[in-house]
Amino acid sequence: MRTRPLKVALLGCGVVGSEVARIMTTHADDLTARIGAPVELAGVAVRRPDRVRVGIDPALITTDATALVKRGDIDVVVEVIGGIEPARTLITTAFEHGASVVSANKALLAQDGAALHKAAEDHGEDLYYEAAVAGAIPLIRPLRESLAGDKVNRVLGIVNGTTNFILDKMDSSGAGYQEALDEATALGYAEADPTADVEGFDAAAKAAILAGIAFHTRVRLDDVYREGMTEVTAADFASARQMGCTIKLLAICERAADGESVTARVHPAMIPLSHPLASVREAYNAVFVESEAAGRLMFYGPGAGGAPTASAVLGDLVAVCRNKLNGSNGPGESAYTRLPVSPMGEVVTRYHISLDVADKPGVLAQVATVFAEHGVSIDTVRQSGKDGEASLVVVTHRASDASLTGTVEALRKLDTVRGVASIMRVEGE
Ligand SMILES: NC(=O)c1ccc[n+]([C@@H]2O[C@H](COP(=O)([O-])OP(=O)(O)OC[C@H]3O[C@@H](n4cnc5c(N)ncnc54)[C@H](OP(=O)(O)O)[C@@H]3O)[C@@H](O)[C@H]2O)c1
Repeated sequence: MRTRPLKVALLGCGVVGSEVARIMTTHADDLTARIGAPVELAGVAVRRPDRVRVGIDPALITTDATALVKRGDIDVVVEVIGGIEPARTLITTAFEHGASVVSANKALLAQDGAALHKAAEDHGEDLYYEAAVAGAIPLIRPLRESLAGDKVNRVLGIVNGTTNFILDKMDSSGAGYQEALDEATALGYAEADPTADVEGFDAAAKAAILAGIAFHTRVRLDDVYREGMTEVTAADFASARQMGCTIKLLAICERAADGESVTARVHPAMIPLSHPLASVREAYNAVFVESEAAGRLMFYGPGAGGAPTASAVLGDLVAVCRNKLNGSNGPGESAYTRLPVSPMGEVVTRYHISLDVADKPGVLAQVATVFAEHGVSIDTVRQSGKDGEASLVVVTHRASDASLTGTVEALRKLDTVRGVASIMRVEGE
């Protein structure tokens, strides 16, 4: 066993970083045995140096993160600051100064993953980021390594705990969106500004990372189609229940049937109650991976939180330290397929459309004609109405998003259609 310790610089000591430091300290002997050398916390960069940091030697605290990563004796930098800058510059500086990097930063990886991978490779260092997607759940490494000999065709997941908590509340209690959000905020599941979660930005960053790894291509955040879940109503849940479904905010990454392109999207969708993702409750995450040889795999667990996320960071830290000792590197970016990312219009799925219509003879036929004219085949129609007004719920067979958009535009122009109450995709069948 080597006695000279591997030196770790911790950038950020908030929700995740404080747990990383705690586990590094309390499990030091186990980590030493598993790695084959001791790991030493050599410095902790923060923004507010005077804050009390339980269990951390105050002498290690610095506000100069750049000087810490430039020290020259750091073996591994753990970046848990978050955001784009200064995290990006600190990570590239770490590579330039001989350190490998473990990061939990989904926003940065989704935006600049390719450049960061290149910087790591240029300097012969590792870049690991298991914690960036779905917190504690091992997902990046299974996709990168365990499934490296298989062909992944689809990744379908609940990758944001806040939105799953809100939707689960709406489903189980009949609450509206605002009421469920208020409860999530009170319980600490939603931040004071929940935009990144409820508008799907956080899930879109994760979808970009997952699609790139799953399909061995490059998918950037801008390539991901995104719709938030703020418009989902209690009425949508009632409709979903009538179909034997529930509603989840899903990240969906798919390889096209001809294998020539991929798509990545985030939006609320109905899924059948029989689908394993339907039973993912509260703030849990789960990701369903469909591959050619393995078939269907599901990864489930806590997708956030200090200790669960630190578990994933520590797993990466052990792997990177072992590589350092062996003088080797883990798998870098695998983007050789260079598959184009198709626009949302080319996505093919089923739709649930709820229309407010005039309750008079011929309306159903008129609506059905519009669907037929746009090549969208109807699976079921449910009509209910009174006092001259009616509600029409149409569920379609599989159709392209572009065809559905054209259908809805044409429906809005019909005099007998008073409004389009909701449009929701139906997935997981
Ligand atoms: N929280 C989760 O459940 C979770 C789950 C998965 C992934 N992640 C990812 O993990 C990362 C960290 O998240 P978090 O929740 O731990 O964030 P956080 O609680 O806000 O902590 C951020 C830390 O970074 C420090 N910091 C901010 N700007 C800095 C700067 N310019 N120089 C040095 N230090 C700076 C802060 O210092 P002060 O302490 O002085 O403010 C704080 O310690 C993010 O990329 C996030 O997306 C988080």
